[in-house]
Amino acid sequence: MDLSSVVVTEGEGYTDEEIAQWMAQQEQEKKDSFFETSSNVGKRYKNKRLSDYIAETDEQKHILETVKQYIKDVNEGKDRTLWMCGATGTGKTLLGSCICYETKGVYCKTYDIKDDLVENHFQRKQTFKKWTDYQSLVIDEVGRCEAEKDFMFQLLNERYENEVSTVIITNLSPSELKEKLGQALYDRFVHNCVSLTFKGESHRKSERSINI
Ligand SMILES: Nc1ncnc2c1ncn2[C@@H]1O[C@H](COP(=O)(O)OP(=O)(O)O)[C@@H](O)[C@H]1O
Ligand SMILES: [Mg+2]
Repeated sequence: MDLSSVVVTEGEGYTDEEIAQWMAQQEQEKKDSFFETSSNVGKRYKNKRLSDYIAETDEQKHILETVKQYIKDVNEGKDRTLWMCGATGTGKTLLGSCICYETKGVYCKTYDIKDDLVENHFQRKQTFKKWTDYQSLVIDEVGRCEAEKDFMFQLLNERYENEVSTVIITNLSPSELKEKLGQALYDRFVHNCVSLTFKGESHRKSERSINI
């Protein structure tokens, strides 16, 4: 909104309400622009919002409430770590993308971090710092990349010490994850954090059958 379009109360300037409305609009525009240009969220998920997540079962309702609480906490400046584990096609990436939209977060897959560290190994320190500094980061496909044991503990540890927030998404079961990432990381980050388990049928199948 252009402030010139705000009704001016003669002699008094803008009312508090008008200023609050203008500031909220500015914030919304910043959020939209960041999401569009810098969030790294894929096209498939760009138009999805929290309201698109269908929560029918008690588990899905719990998932949605937990995600909303995570967003609220992060937007209030609290640092949080959230693990989303479970079956494919059950909405993990959808909700991870919504979290990016709502918190001005950055989305990536584990191998994006690995590739970045490999490509910039001469500036490893600065490259690593970039990943540890994002205020809100969503890391998808955790446990799929061979080299991640080498950097994941350090990354999560430094993000934790930096008091920034991280969502970790994986299709692996807790025991597979423990094997992939190592006991230390598992004990420190999986065991002690809020974690959500996604169960049930893949929505991909139903989306495909609708398209047929
Ligand atoms: N509970 C849900 N409500 C609405 N759409 C869903 C839900 N779960 C999954 N989807 C949709 O199904 C597709 C696959 O979901 P996705 O988030 O990619 O699954 P995952 O990351 O868990 O493998 C996406 O198009 C997503 O929007
Ligand atoms: Mg996914």
